[in-house]
Amino acid sequence: MTMSSSKPIKLIIVIFFLGTLLLINANTVKPKRTLSCQCLKGKEGCTGSKVCEHKELEPEHCFTLWNQTSGKISLQGCWTNKCTNTDHCISREVQPKNGHLLFCCCSKDYCNSNFTHIPDPRPSPTVFVGYGETEPDVLPGRQKDTLILTMMYSLLPLAALTLILVVAYWICRRHKITTYQMDLKQEPLLIHSPPPGSETTHLKLIEIKARGRFGAVWKAETSATSNEYVAVKVFPLQDKLSWQLEQEIYSIPHMDHPNLLHFISSEMRGEGLNQELWLITEFHPHGSIYDYLKANTLSWSEMCKIAESIAHGLTFLHEDILVAGSACKPSIAHRDFKSKNILLKNDMTACIADFGLAIKFELGKNPCDSQNQVGTRRYMAPEILEGAVSFHRDAFLRIDMYSCGLVLWELASRCKLDGPVDEYMLPFEEEIGLAPSLEDMQEVVVEKKMRPVFREHWLKHQGMESFCETIEECWDHEAEARLSAGCVEARIGQLSRTVNISSPVTFIVEELPPKESSL
Ligand code: ADE
Repeated sequence: MTMSSSKPIKLIIVIFFLGTLLLINANTVKPKRTLSCQCLKGKEGCTGSKVCEHKELEPEHCFTLWNQTSGKISLQGCWTNKCTNTDHCISREVQPKNGHLLFCCCSKDYCNSNFTHIPDPRPSPTVFVGYGETEPDVLPGRQKDTLILTMMYSLLPLAALTLILVVAYWICRRHKITTYQMDLKQEPLLIHSPPPGSETTHLKLIEIKARGRFGAVWKAETSATSNEYVAVKVFPLQDKLSWQLEQEIYSIPHMDHPNLLHFISSEMRGEGLNQELWLITEFHPHGSIYDYLKANTLSWSEMCKIAESIAHGLTFLHEDILVAGSACKPSIAHRDFKSKNILLKNDMTACIADFGLAIKFELGKNPCDSQNQVGTRRYMAPEILEGAVSFHRDAFLRIDMYSCGLVLWELASRCKLDGPVDEYMLPFEEEIGLAPSLEDMQEVVVEKKMRPVFREHWLKHQGMESFCETIEECWDHEAEARLSAGCVEARIGQLSRTVNISSPVTFIVEELPPKESSL
């Protein structure tokens, strides 16, 4: 991974280096050419010929100045000014402007050794500037060459730079795609498939069943013919960490339990920015306990069955399972325990879902809490609202137990006993409404130590009275005084077996298990 990812970077550096060299070269090395001209022996140290240095912006030529009548050379050598003649030294003047002197210039080696006078009858556009004439307004051949060269030397670096940038961008893109694909290879349970909404190889998203902290939960069809469904929790890309954490929790060995939501697989779907992270689990048509209670009431036995199964699931989640002395299923705290995160199965037992905030406590290891998030405000234990949590395993388990007390109260509030059943309300909804602030929660739960109320007629029902006692011991202000999940499970189990609600006189056959907290 390290080797292959550094390769393109090295390549980019080399390309930049070469590109920079090319630019420096193009800008600084201007072509130089030497031109040899015939010169007048004895004049200005001339020995018969002269080498003129030709610089790009100061073109060099040869010239001859001679007497028209005698043909005698007055001066010969290098000519640095503009010159229209190229290969041959020909004077085009009809009438010499300098007495009898004729001038010609040319730009080939020794081209000025032969010089002629061919008068041009047309008005000449050319002049030799050295004699006070004006510049030609049409560019002759050599000047055009010069212009082209000049343009080339200024445009070439620009073109080279553009090319370098394009190549570098292309390499970067390729590199990004390659590393990304390598990242994906490291993800567990990876399947590449088209984005949601479309029919995929094996899943069709049908409708949203719930919306949570991390995206939505969809009901999805596994095959058009068999009417089999799964639930797909779709995480946006920015919630990758929660997706990873949740699948990590589900992937812990021995996590399969009837009262924990059954995990099927996790997948990455779509490409680029449209990429989504899916978590596929068993689908439960009743939805969450919250969904169910809003629309339905419960019988005493249904309530006990649901409550016992919740406590059974939580007991399993919280406990270490040891095989040959080493933990193979660590203790896990849920940290967002609430009725929306518990699903109701068709057999009217519950299963705990949504492990996006869960934390595992492996023996001898520090718990890894990379989420830095807290649960739902309404369900927060007083110690969290106060900001006084100690970060050890039992403190986290006790926080779950406080929330569990609130969920049990929600069940009780919808249980049909002898009196009326209230409309469904969230815990503390009566006290502080649907959107309490943190301050509201602190005031009610910490300062006033209030808890959701038990209706009077609940306490007249012997079973329910015991149930309420258990609830009170779950949400005790003192975290250490709270019941463990195992204890709640045992108490409710016994209640459901001993209290017969169908008989007109409620009776208890056995004593309830003693209050002992294993936390
Ligand atoms: N809501 C959230 N998760 C669900 C699931 N697995 N089945 C049904 N409804 C859900």
